[in-house]
Amino acid sequence: PRSFRIVVLPGDGIGPEVVAQAVRVLEAVSAVSSDFQLKLESHDFGGCAIDAHGEPLPQSTLQACKDADAILMGSIGGPKWGVDAKVRPEPGLLALRKALGLYANIRPANLASDSLLDYSPLRPEVAKGVDIIVVRELIGGAYFGTRKEQGVAPDVDTAWDTMIYSVEEVQRITRVAAQIAVAANPPLEIHSVDKANVLASSRLWRKVVTETLTKEYPQIKFHHQLVDSAAMFITSNPRKLNGIILTENLFGDILSDQTSVIPGSLGLLPSASLAGAPSTPSADFKPTLGIYEPIHGSAPDIAGQGIANPIGTILSAAMLLRYSLGLEKPAKAIEDAVRRVLDTPELGGSGLRTADLGGKVATVELGDRIVEALKG
Ligand code: NAD
Ligand code: IPM
Ligand code: MN
Repeated sequence: PRSFRIVVLPGDGIGPEVVAQAVRVLEAVSAVSSDFQLKLESHDFGGCAIDAHGEPLPQSTLQACKDADAILMGSIGGPKWGVDAKVRPEPGLLALRKALGLYANIRPANLASDSLLDYSPLRPEVAKGVDIIVVRELIGGAYFGTRKEQGVAPDVDTAWDTMIYSVEEVQRITRVAAQIAVAANPPLEIHSVDKANVLASSRLWRKVVTETLTKEYPQIKFHHQLVDSAAMFITSNPRKLNGIILTENLFGDILSDQTSVIPGSLGLLPSASLAGAPSTPSADFKPTLGIYEPIHGSAPDIAGQGIANPIGTILSAAMLLRYSLGLEKPAKAIEDAVRRVLDTPELGGSGLRTADLGGKVATVELGDRIVEALKG
């Protein structure tokens, strides 16, 4: 059987709790297949790495990630290493994404199951049929136009972040969105989100998106939406943005959390961070290294209670199998198992749900049910 090396970065807060369930799910799918074998190894990353090694991204963790076939991550950060701390976890995540060249962050926000409609904060008739994939540029923009002196010296009275984009950076993320769009039949519509009425970087963004799509992908329908009104449509009429939201780093961070509540909870959504367009399993499948993680954070308010929703991480593991290993069958099996569990009535309630979706099921118990669903 083919053997794959998976680096697991459990991280901080609820990270280890949700990752443990995704690992069980990966072990369950590999146990029933003689085609492939997964070799999982955990490494310190984030706040726990600061505690153990004095830095969020130790050299040994970075090297293991570079040598891996894929990386499964939980989440990092927390009040122990807060915004005023000298050494913080978050720059480690930015450095890891940058070092691996993972410029394309893909965050699908669709309803895993219609049975979730009753828990969406939006009315069912508004939330129904929403199918949005956020394609977020991940290693440019204001996140990387930063200065060392920010917030370091106590006498600094000015701080700044510079939003910088080059033509090449916008072109390559536009091509990722376009390739995802044309993989569907008919091609998905692209909604490019910017702030071109104010920001120069957004005017460049808009020009490059228009040129790239018009020249290279004439079959794709696209339009430009300003970020403020895009935020409004996500809650008032999200189906208007069905297809792909293509946007820069900071806008994509904010809008993907907002989009996540349409299916009912931030805890549901997976993501893939890749160095290019995802290649879907087929004869000419090209494996690509990626980080797979839920879009949520370390949730300090519920960490240690065993109640976090592991579904975003479990669905991230499915994306890992599909995009980095080319294993469509087990990926699909995981997604089907999640759907079946969400649709299974809980005693006296709706589906088997964790607290964020109005249920009473613990993290480990939901993991048990998904593993059982995979077997049966
Ligand atoms: P958060 O996503 O951690 O939590 C926001 C809210 O959603 C909280 O009420 C939390 O309990 C809830 N929530 C999140 N995930 C959940 C899950 N799986 N199940 C149930 N409820 C869930 O955002 P925050 O509180 O703003 O950030 C906390 C820390 O996480 C910060 O240090 C931040 O930098 C970090 N963070 C890390 C990542 C990452 O590692 N990729 C992503 C986002 C935030
Ligand atoms: C995310 C997170 C990260 C980001 C932070 C923790 C650096 O919010 O993955 O969405 O802003 O990219
Ligand atoms: Mn975020």
